[in-house]
Amino acid sequence: MKKLTYTHNAQAAAVIARAYDTPPLAYVHSYGCQQNVNDGEKIRGVLLDIGFGLCENVEQADLILFNTCAVREHAEQRVFGNVGALKKLKEKNPRLMIGVCGCMAQQQHIVDKLRASYPYVDLVFGVDGIDRLPEILAQRLSRGKRYLENPSERNAVVEDLPIRRDSGFRAWLPIMYGCDNFCTYCIVPYVRGRERSRTPSDVLAEFRDLIARGYKEITLLGQNVNSYGKGLENEAGEPVDFADLLNLLCTVPGDYQIRFMTSHPKDASRKLIDTIAAQPHLCKHIHLPVQSGSNRLLREMNRHYTVEQYLDLVRYAREKIPGVTFSSDIIVGFPGETEEDFCATLDLIEKVRYTQLFTFIYSKREGTRAASMPDPTTHAEKAARMDRLLKLQDSIAFPMIAGLCGQTVRVLVEGAGRNPGTLNGRLDNNLVVEFSGDETLIGNYAQVRLTGSRAALLLGETVQNETDKKE
Ligand code: 5AD
Ligand code: SF4
Repeated sequence: MKKLTYTHNAQAAAVIARAYDTPPLAYVHSYGCQQNVNDGEKIRGVLLDIGFGLCENVEQADLILFNTCAVREHAEQRVFGNVGALKKLKEKNPRLMIGVCGCMAQQQHIVDKLRASYPYVDLVFGVDGIDRLPEILAQRLSRGKRYLENPSERNAVVEDLPIRRDSGFRAWLPIMYGCDNFCTYCIVPYVRGRERSRTPSDVLAEFRDLIARGYKEITLLGQNVNSYGKGLENEAGEPVDFADLLNLLCTVPGDYQIRFMTSHPKDASRKLIDTIAAQPHLCKHIHLPVQSGSNRLLREMNRHYTVEQYLDLVRYAREKIPGVTFSSDIIVGFPGETEEDFCATLDLIEKVRYTQLFTFIYSKREGTRAASMPDPTTHAEKAARMDRLLKLQDSIAFPMIAGLCGQTVRVLVEGAGRNPGTLNGRLDNNLVVEFSGDETLIGNYAQVRLTGSRAALLLGETVQNETDKKE
């Protein structure tokens, strides 16, 4: 694994400065997962570093960049639709540069389609093009030709990228990139490359910096955080795993909380659960994607755990971490899913009692193993199964959430609520509460008494401003 360091590219910045009379403006939109949102923040950071300003409106932009997601077909169709809608803008303003980057651009058939059918797209580069963005832009501007990169894999970790974060109190912190698991439905290993971890000291340095700047919530990111550290050592030359990293980060003094995603059940260890139980900084919520409740389908999906092992882990966590909540990802309609397989998923949902589910109808991804599996179930049948699943989930989660009423909890206030005069805050266990309160609380902790609930949303009132600190 190569480690690279970003340095300011003065030559590219000079090319950009010469090309415009006034500082050019960039509009950057990220689709998909948090990893991609964090990449978008880095893209903005790099653009600011080389003389661009940022804008929130495509009409004002000199550069429009779509940082794309490839995990499901629907996301790709949206990007093509949104890129298509820019054709008129480009006709009005021929100097406008349009770029497509991220996971979609890691697939050859997508690059070919953009090359052939979207001649007004100027730039195409993949997920590891962010540090090279200055030279890519400089090339486009100085040669006047489209810059379209075919997918390649650098398998590097780039440190010291500038970043413009979306929030001043919640931050994403990637601890690893890529994925080695090759779940049979998933495109991620093909577009994001092999798994590689950042060193504990690089993660710690970024973490310390965030805490020093007042960030209250740090979410550690990785496709499979539980396999963090493969091939790495700590300063004493010993192997490190994810629980070790969490313990290291928790030594940093301050008033903050840590979340992480995503945990793969096959690698979630008892040591990890014990660490969550022991460390007050770690939120008592585990996102543990199960995908299916059928052992047959779990094998077909190449998930490497059984329903029994999964339930065992949940049981152990409930025992060790009072009040812990679980959320999960579930795929409905994986190729060959029978009514019996589907009912096994419903059964698992009843057993685990998740507070939140992220549910997806299977989407065929070219190049994955599942794409060649027979899939006789119609979309209508899959949609009907999804409906049943969501009804079951609501019937479990809503009363469970309502059952928290009466408690006084600490929340991180995230922003304005839906109703005027209200705020939204998130509990340690990831549930959201709407309560009345002053906007100055945003970005801080508050004590909220839970007074009621509406579907999955808790309702509450502020008890006092937060004074007691977490250790
Ligand atoms: N179809 C539907 N859902 C998918 N996911 C990943 N690949 C696919 C696919 N081909 C879901 C999984 C994963 C989440 C991020 O997206 O549930 O956990
Ligand atoms: Fe995809 Fe599986 Fe890797 Fe998650 S663990 S990114 S579902 S291959």
